[in-house]
Amino acid sequence: MYTLIYKSTHSGDIDWSALQAMLAKSRKHNQLKQITGMLLVTKREFFQLLEGEEETIEALYERIQQDPRHTEIVTLSRQTTPTRFFPDWYMRGVGIFDMSPEFTQMLYKTYGQDHGALTLPTTEEASYQLIEQLKLELFAMDERQRQQNP
Ligand SMILES: Cc1cc2nc3c(=O)[nH]c(=O)nc-3n(C[C@H](O)[C@H](O)[C@H](O)COP(=O)(O)O)c2cc1C
Repeated sequence: MYTLIYKSTHSGDIDWSALQAMLAKSRKHNQLKQITGMLLVTKREFFQLLEGEEETIEALYERIQQDPRHTEIVTLSRQTTPTRFFPDWYMRGVGIFDMSPEFTQMLYKTYGQDHGALTLPTTEEASYQLIEQLKLELFAMDERQRQQNP
């Protein structure tokens, strides 16, 4: 398994419905190519983890880098990993404002913020730490959802 993490800056104000459409299209494509992962959307940036076969991931990353919807793309990690972080999600998208206030406060404290925009990690180690935290929070969010709508 090959895992790639990058961050980038939105090109303009986020259009949430366009983003949902982009995610739906991505999920179809990713399923076909057995790519899984997640995309965090903050006030200013994207933070994405892609996992799958090395060639498939690099080919997708090539396309993503050409995408005019973002700029200032920074690769944070390329690694061979024993297992998938997100085996069940072809591309789970989450907005920072969809998460619990406690969780986002914890992120702002850990990573810093600038005018309400989370400062994303710049190192591989911190990127994986953030991924672990997001994974736990997403599972907790899904669990809360299940309890509200059994
Ligand atoms: C932040 C961001 C994340 C993206 N993630 C994916 C993804 O996981 N899978 C995917 O197929 N396309 C993703 N895309 C869209 C691709 O950049 C591209 O538009 C899409 O693969 C269609 O490519 P094509 O126009 O060459 O067919 C993403 C775009 C952005 C801006």
